Amino acid sequence: MVSRNDLERLTWYYVRSHIGNDTLLRFPNKSLCRYNIGFPYGPCPLNSTKLPARRVSVAPMMDWTDRHCRVFHRHITRHTWLYTEMVTTGALLHGDVARHLDFSDEEHPVALQLGGSEPGDLAQCAKFGEQWGYDEINLNCGCPSERVQKGAFGACLMAEPELVADCVKAMHDAVSIDVTVKHRIGIDQAESYDFVRDFVGTIADAGCRTFIVHARNAILKGLSPKENREIPPLRYEFAHQLKRDFPQLEIIINGGIKTLDEIDFHLSHVDGVMLGREAYHNPYWMASFDARYYDDGAAVKSRADILEAMLPYIRAQLERHGNGGGLKLNSITRHMLGLMAGMPGARAFRQTLSDSKRLAAGDPVLLLQALARMQPLAA
Ligand SMILES: Cc1cc2nc3c(=O)[nH]c(=O)nc-3n(C[C@H](O)[C@H](O)[C@H](O)COP(=O)(O)O)c2cc1C
Repeated sequence: MVSRNDLERLTWYYVRSHIGNDTLLRFPNKSLCRYNIGFPYGPCPLNSTKLPARRVSVAPMMDWTDRHCRVFHRHITRHTWLYTEMVTTGALLHGDVARHLDFSDEEHPVALQLGGSEPGDLAQCAKFGEQWGYDEINLNCGCPSERVQKGAFGACLMAEPELVADCVKAMHDAVSIDVTVKHRIGIDQAESYDFVRDFVGTIADAGCRTFIVHARNAILKGLSPKENREIPPLRYEFAHQLKRDFPQLEIIINGGIKTLDEIDFHLSHVDGVMLGREAYHNPYWMASFDARYYDDGAAVKSRADILEAMLPYIRAQLERHGNGGGLKLNSITRHMLGLMAGMPGARAFRQTLSDSKRLAAGDPVLLLQALARMQPLAA
C-alpha cells in the first residue's frame, strides 16, 4: 500500500525531473545581468575579515514580514538578519503577548521591532522580547503613518531626540541583547545633514550602537506611508557621512536598494544594508547572500528545494493553528508568490498559488501543483 507521503515524494521527484532538476537553481538570463549573479558565487571581497551579523537584513514590514514570511525567507538564506513587523507597546502590554511574539526557532537571527514612546513601557516590552528569545530589539523612529503619529511614536520621535535617548536607555538597562534604532534622515522640511547627525549623536550617548538609516525624510502631513517610501528623495550620502562621523557606530543603510551592485557599493561605505520591498517581491535574490556576504559557501537551495522545505512547516502550522486557530493556507503561501519571479511560468505559478478554490481546500500539496506549472528552461 503506497502512503500519501510516498506518493507525494514520488510526485515531487517526477515534477522536478520534468522541469529539470537543477533548472530551478538557475537565474534567468535577465536576472543574471540585473543582479550580476553567476555560479559558483565567490565570497564578497569587501570587508572580508570580519563579517558583521547585520551585513544584510530584511526590513520590518507591517503585514508582510510576519512569522510565516520569515520562515520562508530563512529557507532561502541562512544568515540574513530578519526583522518582525512593528509591534506596539500597547498591543503587548494590553493584548495577547504570545500571539504577537511567538516565532519559530528556525527564524534566528531575528529582531523584534517595537513601536512606542514611553520609556517604562518600552523597557517592559524589550524584556518580553528578550525572554521570548529575540536576538535584538529595534525601536521604530521612521514610520510616518497617521495612526502611529496619534500614538506619538514612529518618525515623529525624531523631533524629540532626548525622549528617544530616554527610551533607548530604559530598554538598554532592561535587556542584555542589542537595542537598535531605525529612523529617517529628517522629518518634514528638516533638510540639513546636521539634523540626523545630532539625532544619532544624542541617541548614541544613551548607549545605542546600531542605527538603521532609511535614507529619506518622512513627511508627516500630506503623504501616505506608501508615498513616504517613494516621494521624498533618497540621500544615501547622509548615511555614508554618518559612518564617517561616527566610525565606532554600526550604520546600516536602507531605502530603494535593488541590486547586488548597489549592496556592494553601500557596503564599502557603511556596515550593513537593509532590504525591504525587493526582498519581499523577489525573495530568491537572497539565495546568493550567504556565500556573497557571509562567506558561507554551503550549497545554494533551488527554488524547488525551498518549496519542498516549506511543506512540513505548513503542515505543522495548519495542524496546530488551522481550523480552531483560524490559520488559513493562504496566510503562509501569500508570501511565496514571488519565489519564481523572472522565471518562465512564474505567472502560472502565482495563479495556482492564489487559486481560491485550491486554497480553500487547505492542502499544502498546492505548492507541488504550482511547481508543476513551471516551464522547463532550454538547456
Ligand atoms: C508594506 C510595508 C510595511 C512596512 N512596515 C514597516 C514597519 O512596520 N516598521 C518599519 O520600520 N518600517 C516599515 N516599512 C518600511 C521598510 O522597513 C523600509 O524602510 C522601506 O520599505 C524602504 O526600504 P525598501 O526601499 O528597501 O523597501 C514598511 C514598508 C512596507 C513596504
